[in-house]
Amino acid sequence: MLIKLEDIHKDYMLGKVKIQALRGVSLQINTGEMLCFMGSSGCGKSTLLNIIGGIDGATSGKVWYKDQELNRLNDKRLSRWRNQHLGFIFQNFNLVPVLSAYENVEQPLLLGKFSRNERKERVLAMLELVGMSEHIQHRPDQLSGGQRQRVAIARALVTQPEMVLADEPTASLDSTTGQQVLELMQKINETLSTTFVFSTHDYQVTEYAKRIVRLSDGLIEGVA
Ligand SMILES: Nc1ncnc2c1ncn2[C@@H]1O[C@H](COP(=O)(O)OP(=O)(O)OP(=O)(O)O)[C@@H](O)[C@H]1O
Ligand SMILES: [Mg+2]
Repeated sequence: MLIKLEDIHKDYMLGKVKIQALRGVSLQINTGEMLCFMGSSGCGKSTLLNIIGGIDGATSGKVWYKDQELNRLNDKRLSRWRNQHLGFIFQNFNLVPVLSAYENVEQPLLLGKFSRNERKERVLAMLELVGMSEHIQHRPDQLSGGQRQRVAIARALVTQPEMVLADEPTASLDSTTGQQVLELMQKINETLSTTFVFSTHDYQVTEYAKRIVRLSDGLIEGVA
């Protein structure tokens, strides 16, 4: 077991109105899974991914990462845990516009204890894995959407995380490019046993998941 969610509730206050984004979600995620959260807009996909990744805290319920209860970590230890164990891929890539592809991928390594040579080796290997070796000096605005997303995948993987969280990684891509990105994630899942948890509202990309968790209105509606 890699992740265990126990009766997760998340409320947001919108003025005086309480919005129940998650209403009691329990789930276990195993090492090496390729799991997809599926559901319509507003059902709680991003909220759930943010709670799994320790970006946001639950209103009630517990999140376990192996033997560690995340709720018990303070902010500093939580961000160190994130940097050591997780990679994130966002819908709109979140690359730093003034940095090259190489520099964007190198960023998470600057927070760790890697020598300059070790960083270079890892960054170049990752950019090769995602098929971007010929674009290492290009800035995001000089790349296509699919190429940017591949740089974002390389950045998420460069620390060799155990788990990658991807919130609608294909939403800004055309369907062919989206499928290529998912194929790449699938290849990495199979070769490196990296656990992938991603969200989508596009039925086409669910075929790349080994397990599909359907969310509806803050609850798990079904698992397939
Ligand atoms: N910061 C916030 N403040 C108030 N309400 C929020 C906040 N973030 C999310 N919500 C509400 O929580 C619910 C779940 O939102 P969430 O972003 O998790 O949905 P989603 O499934 O990711 O949707 P989408 O497919 O549109 O990205 C929605 O009703 C949303 O309006
Ligand atoms: Mg969302």
